[in-house]
Amino acid sequence: MNDKQNSIFFPDGAAPASAAENTVPETEPARQYYFMEKTRELLEQQGYTGKDALSFHVTTFGCQMNARDSEKLRGILQYVGMTESDSEECDLVLFNTCTVRENANLKVYGRLGELHGYKKKNPKMKIGICGCMMQEKSEVEKVRKSYPFVDIVFGTHNLYRFAELLYRSFAGEKHVVDVEEADPAIVENLPIERKYSFKSGVNVTYGCNNFCSYCIVPYVRGREKSREPKDILREIENLSKDGVKEIMLLGQNVNSYGKTLETPVSFAELLSDVEKIDGIERIRFMTSHPKDLSDDLIDVMAHSKKICRHIHLPLQSGSTKVLSEMNRHYTKEDYLRLCEKIRTAMPDIAITTDIMVGFPGETEEDFLETMDVVQKVQYDSAFTFIYSPREGTPAAGRDDFIPDNVVHDRFDRLLDLIHECSAAQAEKHMGEIQNVLVEEVNSHDPSLVTGHMGNNSLVHFKGSPDLIGQTVPVKLTESHDFYYFGEAVSE
Ligand code: SAH
Ligand code: SF4
Ligand code: F3S
Repeated sequence: MNDKQNSIFFPDGAAPASAAENTVPETEPARQYYFMEKTRELLEQQGYTGKDALSFHVTTFGCQMNARDSEKLRGILQYVGMTESDSEECDLVLFNTCTVRENANLKVYGRLGELHGYKKKNPKMKIGICGCMMQEKSEVEKVRKSYPFVDIVFGTHNLYRFAELLYRSFAGEKHVVDVEEADPAIVENLPIERKYSFKSGVNVTYGCNNFCSYCIVPYVRGREKSREPKDILREIENLSKDGVKEIMLLGQNVNSYGKTLETPVSFAELLSDVEKIDGIERIRFMTSHPKDLSDDLIDVMAHSKKICRHIHLPLQSGSTKVLSEMNRHYTKEDYLRLCEKIRTAMPDIAITTDIMVGFPGETEEDFLETMDVVQKVQYDSAFTFIYSPREGTPAAGRDDFIPDNVVHDRFDRLLDLIHECSAAQAEKHMGEIQNVLVEEVNSHDPSLVTGHMGNNSLVHFKGSPDLIGQTVPVKLTESHDFYYFGEAVSE
């Protein structure tokens, strides 16, 4: 064991006892632990230990799911004895990619060129690409043809097999390309290296069954699968023992959690069980599909002391016609009623959303319906996107795309309105004392620290780095749309 392993987290509390077997185990995760040990031995034989250990960097694109996956990749790399580097100028760089919009892909290819420059200076450097983009055949082909300096390619479905692929690469295989099409298995208890010691994502479902007509996620992440509640709860108990105060339950549509388990469990029931775990102070979740948000969930939230007063409820469009063409399964009125129900149960809740502009066939009237919902709901903040056609999705096959100038004009009007709403919402909390979980030193002004309130608003205040990981009561003194300045209040 090297000392770096001390910080590695094992969801079951420890690595499986069978880690040192001599034959290749057929079951997971034993098989991966076998390859982690083998890789470590190989690196030791090659002299890459102690101060000569190889360095790695994992660069994450995309959503919280990818961020959590990257923590798993970092856990494996640390387990085999490599050390993490802040820079991409190191011995192994992994790009964990996103393909939800075209510009996500363009970013990756741009950055790959830079990596090639580093590799020319450091010939032993390895470059790997994984994640959602690599579940697309055309992208894998492109990497093989145009970026032959890439050493390791794998997708999301077989991410759990990374240790095995890493071993093959270090053992001398020139191009390790392994992309699985079959639905992914859920493999529990692989090592994890968290970005933050005091907060963590926790997967509750993988994949998505909704097939919104614009969206590539179900194609690159596979069918929806829920983890067993006992596995989730055990992981959270162990996270709590490891110092975690805030958890974010992750799924593309957490509201459909548990429906297909052998013994079905609802997301509301899961939340009630998570609430009972000592040491966890804040519970968040992402994302809620409006079509599946139950009254039980609202009830559990309203009575909870730990579930944050924040809900991310993607709208996509305010036009019932467009929503139907998007395959979203709710109308403008359904959505507005749902927000009203949530606000009645929890008047202080922050509602945030995702909105897309320029879906094929979107008329000015459709767009004005979206503006109307924004006006009525008064979001605390919103992520706004320009529709991007994704190969293989139904919407990409349409012939009524909206001209760029029209889309940009709508996008700018939407942004202006969202800024107005966010500013009005932020103003409401001015002067309040709110608990802030301190996350980091402010990157612009090192005399400030930065953290989030329960409702997910960002707060900066004067404080020292030793507050990181602590929950501090802060008086909000200045509001700026998306963030506040405040002053710590001594109790
Ligand atoms: N599962 C989540 C969303 C995951 S993708 C949900 O259902 O809400 C995150 C956001 O990216 C989506 O909410 C949507 O607004 C946006 N998005 C997805 N596909 C897109 C596309 N083809 N073009 C533009 N935006 C897209
Ligand atoms: Fe994509 Fe829709 Fe699934 Fe969200 S629910 S990931 S938008 S298909
Ligand atoms: Fe992107 Fe994959 Fe997430 S496509 S948004 S990283 S699930």
